[in-house]
Amino acid sequence: MIKKLSEKVTWVGKVDWELKRFHGNEYSINRGTSYNSYLVKDRKNVLIDTVWLPYGKEFVENLSKVIPLSEIDYIIINHAEIDHSGALPELMKLIPQTPIYCTANAVKSLKGHYHQDWNFVTVKTGDTLDIGLNKIIFIEAPMLHWPDTMLSYMTGENILFSNDAFGQHYATESLFNDKADRCQLYEEAIKYYANILTPFSAFVTKKIKEVLSFNLPVDMICTSHGVIWKDNPLQIIETYLKWADSYSENQISIIYDTMWNGTAKMAQAIADGIKSKDDKVTVKLLNAAKYDKNDIMTEVFRSHTVLMGSSTINNGYLFSISGVLEMIKGLKFKGKSAAAFGTYGWSGEAVKEITAKLKECGFEIINDGIRALWMPDNEALTKCFEYGQALIKQYGNL
Ligand code: FEO
Repeated sequence: MIKKLSEKVTWVGKVDWELKRFHGNEYSINRGTSYNSYLVKDRKNVLIDTVWLPYGKEFVENLSKVIPLSEIDYIIINHAEIDHSGALPELMKLIPQTPIYCTANAVKSLKGHYHQDWNFVTVKTGDTLDIGLNKIIFIEAPMLHWPDTMLSYMTGENILFSNDAFGQHYATESLFNDKADRCQLYEEAIKYYANILTPFSAFVTKKIKEVLSFNLPVDMICTSHGVIWKDNPLQIIETYLKWADSYSENQISIIYDTMWNGTAKMAQAIADGIKSKDDKVTVKLLNAAKYDKNDIMTEVFRSHTVLMGSSTINNGYLFSISGVLEMIKGLKFKGKSAAAFGTYGWSGEAVKEITAKLKECGFEIINDGIRALWMPDNEALTKCFEYGQALIKQYGNL
């Protein structure tokens, strides 16, 4: 499949409907993804990014049906990660002298991945490439989300080629935001931000403000994953500014794992206590052993408060909670509060240890948490209910 976006720009990427896991097993994919690559035909012909390595051969075959490969004058690699540079080894076998425009850090990454000394041309913010009637302006965007990342802007067509930024792991037939299901698109965009871009939020804000200060008109944002933002493209920029600013909704996530259902009962009683005092707050109960871990991160991103529960096991806490806490630590969420809860039989370290870890994750600790001995009886569950009520009393509209 190819798709003409304008007279001069054609999408030549790959829609991957089958993908289930990305970054190894690190990111769960619910609705496929795409690796977007673009061919710009002006007086000079430019290929912007490629596709993931397993699709390299297919990509080159399809591309050669759109343009004789020898007529590609320049290649731009906005980001060296293998889902965007993966077709280079196949392509460069056929056009080995074609210059590859990228940042100095991208040269290091590309050499590190492919061990080839291709014809690299390094660029910095403000450098331009004349392609005939129009030009490409390069804007470095380090740590969005790798040190090598940059954005490319095409004058005349007013297109920002943003690579990973503003993307989503979302396969669609139409490629354009206004043709996609709005709810699905929002869900995939926020999941992508929460799980990939959250640690770099300070860079997101700074870079967006810098790009906006250039006063470049933007008619389309061509991402490297998911939809192209054609209808009101600035909406995703405005949304990113909101997400990058210690984002939360009026939500409390109660994340737990449970051995014999006691901690699950505590979670439900705490939730009931919260709701009895505040029916406006959204309270979600998420069993970490059963719920998708990336979807849990998205719920953490949406929450102002996280309550984390586990039974005590082997003087610590359950494995799924370890994984969730480690992911939370890496994502460096800002401006969130937390506390711990859980059942125990004798030593009962889980609550204390989870609290310490939540503190390490940068959460403001609300209190020392709540524990229940063995299977919580009615009295213990009443205490959990009151604990939930007290959270609302303590923090009002949290
Ligand atoms: Fe889509 Fe950072 O690669």
